[in-house]
Amino acid sequence: MQSAQITRMSLISTQLTAAATTVLAAYDFQWHSLSLLTGGLINTTLRVETLNGPGYVLQRLHPVFDEAVNHNLDLVTRELARQGLTTPLLIRTREHARAVPLDGAVWRVLSRVPGHSVDALSDAAGAQVAGAVLGRFHAALADWHAPLPHIRPPVHDPARHLAALRGALAAHPGHRLYPEVVRLALAITTQLADLPAWPAGPARLVHGDPKISNLLFDAQGRGLCLVDLDTLAHGPVVPELGDAFRSWCNPGPEDAPQASFALDFFAAAIEGYASQTAGLLGPAEWMGLVAGTQTIYLELAARFAADALEERYFGWSPARYATRGEHNLARAGNQLAAAQDLAQQADAATAILVRHFTGGMKP
Ligand SMILES: Nc1ncnc2c1ncn2[C@@H]1O[C@H](COP(=O)(O)OP(=O)(O)OP(=O)(O)O)[C@@H](O)[C@H]1O
Ligand SMILES: [Mg+2]
Repeated sequence: MQSAQITRMSLISTQLTAAATTVLAAYDFQWHSLSLLTGGLINTTLRVETLNGPGYVLQRLHPVFDEAVNHNLDLVTRELARQGLTTPLLIRTREHARAVPLDGAVWRVLSRVPGHSVDALSDAAGAQVAGAVLGRFHAALADWHAPLPHIRPPVHDPARHLAALRGALAAHPGHRLYPEVVRLALAITTQLADLPAWPAGPARLVHGDPKISNLLFDAQGRGLCLVDLDTLAHGPVVPELGDAFRSWCNPGPEDAPQASFALDFFAAAIEGYASQTAGLLGPAEWMGLVAGTQTIYLELAARFAADALEERYFGWSPARYATRGEHNLARAGNQLAAAQDLAQQADAATAILVRHFTGGMKP
């Protein structure tokens, strides 16, 4: 037991352990060990063990996030809990603060939900479970129209990301990856031009980043809840679901040279989502989901392609790629390939939507 704890502790730098210890002193619970929870790319996430109960999760927020995201998280998760949904909750300090500032960073503690996340789904059953978790979340928050304390600007805006890609091409004409990025940019631009804009509204309370690693499953594979609640916002549901399906239905690694859109995963995800959201989505919303998913793939491809020229991204694998640029190029190609595969199957995907959102009344 002791050696297991030491092994886990050793994964964390002395500096991080010291900072975490200082932060945890502000809280009214006893803890005995820390381990690093990998899976997230943005925040630093530590699992905090206590003698009794499932313990806590301690996070050092990435500076991209305003400390006010904790206020959103606190309000929304309390509402979810009030309705009986499983959810992490924000734990206040002894002084009742939502977070602890330390050395220029913001730290917060969440209740730990006993479950695990995955980086990719291995079967359609998982997609059905994920769809049900997200559907339950949207349905529970459907009547939340009051503005959140912290307003997040819209993240999904394909035209803006395409313009940024054009800007990157103009700024880096001599970049070694320029010819490959131009080829991708042409394909992305052509395909986006053929897709309709998603319906502007209604504004719903959305998670903002429902990729598969932000869902927790229990040991039996049942869905528990969404985590990573820093991106909560009011916004259209089509890009939210498009972002979910692009992640859940492209089961290979995000940087694999080949990518496919798993239609059986999509069918299962829609079944799970529809099972929890009867009557929630209007026709313009559910009919926009196939084009919306294609658009999100292309938007992400544009972002990765721009990042390839600008050599930036939060995380990359030096073991497998020469530079950030190469890794981002692989990611851009992967998203484009998945978009193309979905385009080939668009009619079948639309038939799935009709079946689930019209109760089988239409052909
Ligand atoms: N309250 C919680 N209970 C249990 N596990 C959690 C909890 N919060 C986070 N996790 C686990 O830690 C991982 C990382 O957390 P989170 O997604 O919040 O970090 P992140 O860095 O913001 O991630 P991302 O890369 O998606 O932005 C999650 O994928 C999940 O496995
Ligand atoms: Mg996450």
